[in-house]
Amino acid sequence: MGLRARHLLGIETLAPDEILTLLDLADTYADKARRRAPAGDALAGLTQINMFFEASTRTQASFELAGKRLGAQVMNMAMSASSLKKGETLIDTALTLNAMRPDLLVVRHPHSGAVNLLADKVDSAVLNAGDGRHEHPTQALLDALTIRRKKGRLHRLTIAICGDIAHSRVARSNILLLGKMENRVRLIGPPTLMPSGAKDWGVEVYQDMTEGLADADVVMMLRLQKERMDGAFIPSEREYFHRYGLDAQKLSAAKPDAIVMHPGPMNRGVEIDGVIADDINRSVIQEQVEMGVAVRMAAMDLLARGLREARAAKGVMA
Ligand code: NCD
Repeated sequence: MGLRARHLLGIETLAPDEILTLLDLADTYADKARRRAPAGDALAGLTQINMFFEASTRTQASFELAGKRLGAQVMNMAMSASSLKKGETLIDTALTLNAMRPDLLVVRHPHSGAVNLLADKVDSAVLNAGDGRHEHPTQALLDALTIRRKKGRLHRLTIAICGDIAHSRVARSNILLLGKMENRVRLIGPPTLMPSGAKDWGVEVYQDMTEGLADADVVMMLRLQKERMDGAFIPSEREYFHRYGLDAQKLSAAKPDAIVMHPGPMNRGVEIDGVIADDINRSVIQEQVEMGVAVRMAAMDLLARGLREARAAKGVMA
């Protein structure tokens, strides 16, 4: 079975069985990568274009590697050097690329909803690599795979998501995914960084780290997204670290075997103590990066199956 939709735009539109199909396939890719076994050629003959309108290290590198490991021809558009600088709109750029007949388009954009808009205009399968504060589906999927591998399950866990919830697409996609899998999700952060409607999302909301972390199985830290803040949301970084930065003392409120996650890039000494981030007994940050490649391979593999089926049905070679 593949995915029901042509695109992967968010977790919101994925059903639990689709999430599990994707994670199971990603698991096999992760195991193959560990054994250095060939990954196969699920994307052979297909063209993948990465369009990143916002800075990225991990996400762009892992989408590129994922495509190449599965045999796709991968092109990275240098968006800062493209015609956008000359005033071309996102849609015109998309239509231009569409005319070159790519099969997979991986898009990151600073505006929430921009990737959905683009997906309506093109013939390829579109993967959302993060749009504004809206969604970052492959991040939530790689987080889920990391949790499942470390905790042995992905349901009935207590997961605390901490920090700058308001500006975070990672938080939004994770809340949706972990909720669909019937976990207990807690959001912890100062009121200025908590979205006003958070209480209606089926989560518990805390302002105090020690209270919110009590008995947590998973502690997920978020980066303070300074580039999305247009005023003072915190008194100072020092004060923020004191109240919300994850250090050994705050972490001791969680379960003794709780794992610590962070999507990166990290602000050490702001939302997380460097000692905790580097503690290989608690931190799974490197595994998250490793699972990122596997999840992106699985996502593009499943979307490519859908493309091939749709084209076969229309009598077009894929
Ligand atoms: C996240 C993002 O870009 O949304 N990073 C990532 O994809 N690994 C989180 C962040 O920027 O803080």
